[in-house]
This record gives sequence, C-alpha cells and structure tokens, in this order.
Amino acid sequence: MLITNIGELVGIVPPGVRRKQGEEMSHTGVLRDAWLEVLDGRIASFGEMSAQVPDSRDGKVTDARGGMLMPAFCDSHTHIVHAGTREGEFIDKINGLSYEEIAARGGGILNSADLLHETPEDELYRQSMERVREMMSKGSCAMEIKSGYGLNPADELKMLRVIRRIKESVPAIVRSTFLGAHAVGRGYTHESYVQAVIDMLPEAAGLSDFVDVFCDKGFFTTEDTARILKAASSCGLRAKIHANELDVSGGVEVGVSCGALSVDHLERTTEAQIEILKGTPVMPVMLPSSSFFLGLPFGAARDFIGAGLGVALASDYNPGSSPSGDMRFVMALACIKMRLTPVQAFNALTLNAAYAMGVEDVSGSVTAGKRADLILTLPGWSLTRLPYNYTTPFIRSVFAAGMEI
Ligand code: NIG
Ligand code: FE
Repeated sequence: MLITNIGELVGIVPPGVRRKQGEEMSHTGVLRDAWLEVLDGRIASFGEMSAQVPDSRDGKVTDARGGMLMPAFCDSHTHIVHAGTREGEFIDKINGLSYEEIAARGGGILNSADLLHETPEDELYRQSMERVREMMSKGSCAMEIKSGYGLNPADELKMLRVIRRIKESVPAIVRSTFLGAHAVGRGYTHESYVQAVIDMLPEAAGLSDFVDVFCDKGFFTTEDTARILKAASSCGLRAKIHANELDVSGGVEVGVSCGALSVDHLERTTEAQIEILKGTPVMPVMLPSSSFFLGLPFGAARDFIGAGLGVALASDYNPGSSPSGDMRFVMALACIKMRLTPVQAFNALTLNAAYAMGVEDVSGSVTAGKRADLILTLPGWSLTRLPYNYTTPFIRSVFAAGMEI
C-alpha cells in the first residue's frame, strides 16, 4: 500500500529510540507533503512528494488529500475486560459519595467482581470485544488489558483467558496483565488474599505478560506489593503498578526498587518521588480521564518533564474511574488540564505509551520496519487541532499492521 499527498507525516522517530524524556518530549519528526509505503504490514519507507515517489507495484494507493498521517495510539493501561457497567454508582457519585466511600460500602471493584462472576466467559468476551472495537475505531492499535475483577483463582483465570482470546482475534497488539491484587476478594481476609494472589501467580503467569498491584490507601500496602512483585518476578513477570491515586502510597518507591516497567496514576506525587524516578527505566504513566471522572488532581506531568523524565498517558478504561477509552480525549485533558503541549501529549500517547507496555520496538512511531499502525486524518487536521477541537470527528482511516479497520 502506498499513501500519497499526506499533508503532514508526524511522529517520525529514528530506529533505536525507545522513549522520549525531558526536552526530547517537545520534539517529533515531521515531513510535509509526504508519501509512505507499507509492505507486509510494516512501514517500508517514506519521503516527500517532491522527491521520487515509489511505484505502487500494483498495490493499493490511498490519496490522503492533505490529511495528517500519524502513528496510532498505544493504550498502556486499561481494564476493558469487565462485565456490564457501574451506572448505579455514577448516581451515588453525583450525589456526593467519593470513590473510596463507594468502595468501603462494598461497591466499586467488588461490585464488578460479583457481576463478572455471574457472566459466562463467552458473554464476557463479547462485551469486551465491543470495547476493543470501539478503541480501535478511535485510533488505538495497541492495548494493555488487566485482570482484577475476578478476585478468586477461577474468575481471575477466566479474565486472563478472555484477554488471550482477544489477543488472538484482533489485528491490534494486546498485552495482558495479572492484577489479582486489585481488591481483597469476597470471603478472604486481607492476609489470606495476599497469599492467594501469590498462589495464583504460577498459573496466571502462563497467561500474562505483566503483573500489577493496586498499591494505595484502603487496598494493598507497600509490603504486600513488594511480596507479590518478588513472587511474580520469580515467575518471569515484570511489574506495572497502580500508585498514588488515592494517597501518596509508596508505590513509586516499590516500583523503582522492583524494576517495574511503569508506575501508573500519580495523581499525587512528591518531589522526592520525581528524584527517585530519575535515571531509572521506569515510565511514569498518567491517566487524566480518571482525574476528570473522579474529580481528583491531575498528575504534575510538567514537573516530571521539567525534571528530565518521560511521561506516558493512557485511558485507564474501566467501569469505576474512567468509563472511556478515547485517547484523543486523554490528549485533550493532558493539554487543557495538565498544560502539556500537543507535541508532548502526542509523544506521551504514542512512543512513550508503547514503551510503557513493552512494544516500542514494533509500534508507537513512524519508523521503517515498525508495524504500520497508523491514523489517517480527514483533511485540515494538525497535531494542535486534535486537542483543540476535541469533540470534532477527525479520523478518516485507522490501519493496524497496514490493515484498515
Ligand atoms: O485504575 N484504581 C484502581 N483501579 C481502577 C479502577 C477500578 C474500578 O473502579 O473498577 C483504576 O482507576
Ligand atoms: Fe487502572
């Protein structure tokens, strides 16, 4: 496939660049009036229309008519395998109950676990696939999906099997995370559940790429987290951690000392934690749609970037704190509420997000040899306009590994 007359080809990154940090986050490679060639689902080459345009070799030619071509979004933190909705709690929230108060009343995550328990595996797959299709149509071609609404061995494994089935049935890249430690399952004490999670690890590891712990006030302590991550590491699982959503939880420190790939949420982070993250391979991931939905502070992404760190952004699509998987909305919140520039937000949603889910070698940028995971916009769009006209439709086509979806 050959795409011609691209108004702006954005997100060009040289081979070997795995993430962007600090000042690098304010830059991305751009070619104006360009073409791009896809061979066998991969980006083969690209250049300017004024130079030699390759022969289409009888392949399909798409005239971009001046539209922008950009890498598809990578959503490195989602909980899209869940049953039904929590609309009832939405009303409780409107009436003034906080996320923690809803959880303390036995609602929240436990509510979703009860629903998931009653939902047959095929039905869970069907509902989850609707969300996956919605996300792909909105431009996400890579997504991480967590378990964590099972909260007992049988239901956690049911979730992980559904994620594996999604992985096998969509052209998007899917990564699976075992989040047994999302809340204490019904019928367990705190201590017995932490042990149960550790006992689930060997079987869960066969179906997972990563492990996660909700290290936060009212959920799991830093000691629980360290124990679980140590056991997970001996099963070959690297960590991605929920940290600092409800409180300064110590999750950042545990994540750094356990060699986590990412620490996520970070609605409340101290300067000391920014210092700890410097010089580490850990990617800070912020989830502005949860801040928006729950009325929490927005992550201090500018301070992180100012300190020379990279930041990634994800949707956190889940029924309790972010019932949306729209990465363009995440971009708008990052620009409007966190005051990132459109280019910084774009790097956070693409290359850095790919890094945060371990797929930066195959997706997240326009780089020869990577999968052709691309968004072609309607004519007249630029990176700056995406978060500005933040509800106006902008997508003409989404390609996952070169396949239009
Ligand atoms: O990332 N914080 C923990 N987990 C999810 C919310 C889960 C839920 O409420 O269902 C989150 O916000
Ligand atoms: Fe989450």
